[in-house]
Amino acid sequence: MAALISPDHSEFPPHPRLKLGVMASGSGSNFEAIAQSIQDGHLNAEIQVVIYNNPDAKVVDRAQRFNVPAVLLNHREFGSREELDQAIVTSLKNYQVDWVVMAGWMRIVTPVLINAFPNRILNIHPSLLPSFKGNRAEVDSGKIIIQAAVPILEGDTVEALQNRIHAQEHQIYPAAIAIAAIQTQH
Ligand code: GRF
Repeated sequence: MAALISPDHSEFPPHPRLKLGVMASGSGSNFEAIAQSIQDGHLNAEIQVVIYNNPDAKVVDRAQRFNVPAVLLNHREFGSREELDQAIVTSLKNYQVDWVVMAGWMRIVTPVLINAFPNRILNIHPSLLPSFKGNRAEVDSGKIIIQAAVPILEGDTVEALQNRIHAQEHQIYPAAIAIAAIQTQH
């Protein structure tokens, strides 16, 4: 296995306490990894709120377990991407979020969100960037904080590969939040 960058995951650079708003559409295993990292005293942060857009998203159960408020903003109930994003911004501001962490958010976001939190939005992408972006020209750009690579093994199932990717994501996403916070201080 080739790790492009291999940070010591137990070491988080000292950083000011962060107020996170997590956005998730599905299972929320990355949300949980971040919440667990905070609980374990690695990431110095609090998750103020989880925003989710699918009523049956499993992230809600995980949020409950970590006592994090979860707010449903169902994209089907909004007339446009911008209207959804405006509702998200309002909610994130209500919860006094200063860093937005997209963790499996399966919607394209607009400048309405991006301009409300300049240089304070993180995203996670399951394939290596910049080579393997999503299939819309405007997505998955921006500064890369951490990357890890996993092998594709002979006879792999989608599930096996997904698990391998998730294991890496859970290691590096909490650290990426700390590193991004440090980098934006300078
Ligand atoms: C992750 O693999 C992430 O890279 C992609 O969606 C998946 C979300 O998984 N954008 P989870 O909901 O955090 O379990």
